[in-house]
Amino acid sequence: MPAAEFNIIAIDGGAATGKSSTSRGMAECLQLMHVDTGAHYRTLTHALLHAGAQPGQDSEIQEALDTLELGTQIDGRSAQLSVNGQVPADSDLRSPEVNASVSQFAAIPAVRQKLFDYQRSLAPVAREKEYAGLVMEGRDIGSVIFPDADFRFFLHADEATRSTRRAKEGQTDSIAARDKMDSSRKTAPLVCPEGATQIDTGPFTLKEVISQVVAYIQG
Ligand code: C5P
Repeated sequence: MPAAEFNIIAIDGGAATGKSSTSRGMAECLQLMHVDTGAHYRTLTHALLHAGAQPGQDSEIQEALDTLELGTQIDGRSAQLSVNGQVPADSDLRSPEVNASVSQFAAIPAVRQKLFDYQRSLAPVAREKEYAGLVMEGRDIGSVIFPDADFRFFLHADEATRSTRRAKEGQTDSIAARDKMDSSRKTAPLVCPEGATQIDTGPFTLKEVISQVVAYIQG
């Protein structure tokens, strides 16, 4: 990647396909700012549950969303979403309660709307902070947030590999149920964006996947 260029890289895929580890590795190799948008939906889910809102309670959700002020805390290469000045602990974002309801909240248009402009605004932040580019991972990055990204990748892996990965992380997570809900929702569903480069991460080590993606970007 030429030093003078600023590249936006979109990484999409289902749960436990290796998006976060790959994106973090790419950020290190290519001096990029890394944004995990799954953490954004987890952060809002955590805040909404804390406010007593449940999926389906549209007016309560909108009322609670209106009280949430979004901000950014940068930690090394990672830009994290803060809500009312706080970045929740990772253990809160990956709790069984959040795992169980994040896809339901993420299907609500008002929740996605709250994040749309914020996520797009992170590209100028990465430029201002003089990163060589931005790598953003999620479900709708190459399709909705940055359809004009310089590079778009779609990761996938078989279900056994993905379940093993989550079990190794010690997490209780219904990967298949979340994928089903994420793929079938009306607003910004999980899809492989047209023209994205597809990578099956199952047969490869993390290092191999990062090398493949970095080699592709560097041409
Ligand atoms: O990436 P992670 O598994 O942490 O994402 C948690 C959930 O957030 C997903 O299952 C999905 O419901 C939602 N999500 C989304 N759009 C994104 C990123 C995540 O709907 N861009």
